[in-house]
Amino acid sequence: MVAIPTKLNYDIKDINLASLGRQRIEWAAREMPVLAQIRDRFNAEKPLAGIRLVACCHVTTETANLAIALQAGGADAVLIASNPLSTQDDVAACLVNDYGMPVFAIKGEDNATYHRHVQTALDHKPNVIIDDGSDVVATLIKERQHQLADLIGTTEETTTGIVRLEAMFRDGVLTFPAMNVNDADTKHFFDNRYGTGQSTLDGIIRATNVLLAGKTLVVAGYGWCGKGVAMRARGLGSNVVITEINPVKAIEAAMDGFRVMPMSEAASIGDVFVTVTGNKHIIRKEHFETMKDGAMVCNSGHFDIEIDLETLKGMSRDVKEVRNFTQQYLLNNGKSIIVLGEGRLVNLAAAEGHPSAVMDMSFANQALACEYLVKNQGSLQPGIHSIPTEVDQEIARLKLQAMGINIDTLTPSQIEYMNSWTVGT
Ligand code: ADE
Repeated sequence: MVAIPTKLNYDIKDINLASLGRQRIEWAAREMPVLAQIRDRFNAEKPLAGIRLVACCHVTTETANLAIALQAGGADAVLIASNPLSTQDDVAACLVNDYGMPVFAIKGEDNATYHRHVQTALDHKPNVIIDDGSDVVATLIKERQHQLADLIGTTEETTTGIVRLEAMFRDGVLTFPAMNVNDADTKHFFDNRYGTGQSTLDGIIRATNVLLAGKTLVVAGYGWCGKGVAMRARGLGSNVVITEINPVKAIEAAMDGFRVMPMSEAASIGDVFVTVTGNKHIIRKEHFETMKDGAMVCNSGHFDIEIDLETLKGMSRDVKEVRNFTQQYLLNNGKSIIVLGEGRLVNLAAAEGHPSAVMDMSFANQALACEYLVKNQGSLQPGIHSIPTEVDQEIARLKLQAMGINIDTLTPSQIEYMNSWTVGT
């Protein structure tokens, strides 16, 4: 029997949702065998014993399995939402009710509540922070310098969060180690590409039930996430257009067989727009002005800044909710534009985020990165650290094993060949 935290120690929608949450968390666990192995080892070895840990993540069934593994490892863990719209309320309820974990996350919470939850999490005086977008770390540095002495380090799993950490390092304020989970091969090759690819289209379809076959779907940004969205949209029969600012990625998109053009041209031909750039105002006034009547816009980048909704509001005479997570903006020029998930991550707002099978590897990286920080406490330099290659490789090996896939190994003479330079043509 676990002790349920007092009401002061959690802020969730409804604790009575716990049993539904448990059922769904267990369902996700079926696809998370690598994390399960780590959880079982953590349970036996307790590598996080006595560690106060704050996890700021999308509160999903997959995150719940990570949180359970961290708790099994001995961590005194608090969980908060990394986005106001991504929380699964039944999951939050289960973690509070069945695992005694303080959770602060309610789907649809306003920005003030979101920031209050960040402060509450920092009241826990974390030794380790798992961040998703770097809001907790940024708040710690800006507002709670006196707590930095408690911090062993942080882990970050998003491209956006890493860009912010790099800026902190340049400004000389990143005075502790940060593990770059996003750059692990077993993270971005799968989570960013196949996870974002599938779940973004899942979000668009659940929100609208639109047929993607035959539609022109514009993807802004051809990073790993953009590649995933473009690949899956093509698979569903869309005519995919890519917009980019990076010339190399633009060539890559062209050679992958996509049409590439600036947003100023794409705006008037697109039926559905997806932003995945990590930058602000990718779709803005001059684009809204030329869009087709009924064009749909959504975002799968971390923050809700990619679509300039402020300006769109100013151009509109009415905004109405036409379906769940689907708002119709009626423009002064008589046309309408459909915005999904309020411009927040459409895959988490309107669907359930990435499938468990990819989050298995992302969260295996997260759990092992926490263990690495604690094991190497005091010896890691301040700054951003890669996940050790051995860890990445081990996660891949475990995943292959779970998928029932065997691969070749090098013969001794192949190893010798790869290590020598004397034999050539
Ligand atoms: N980010 C994207 N998808 C996610 C998921 N299912 N759980 C947690 N974080 C995510």
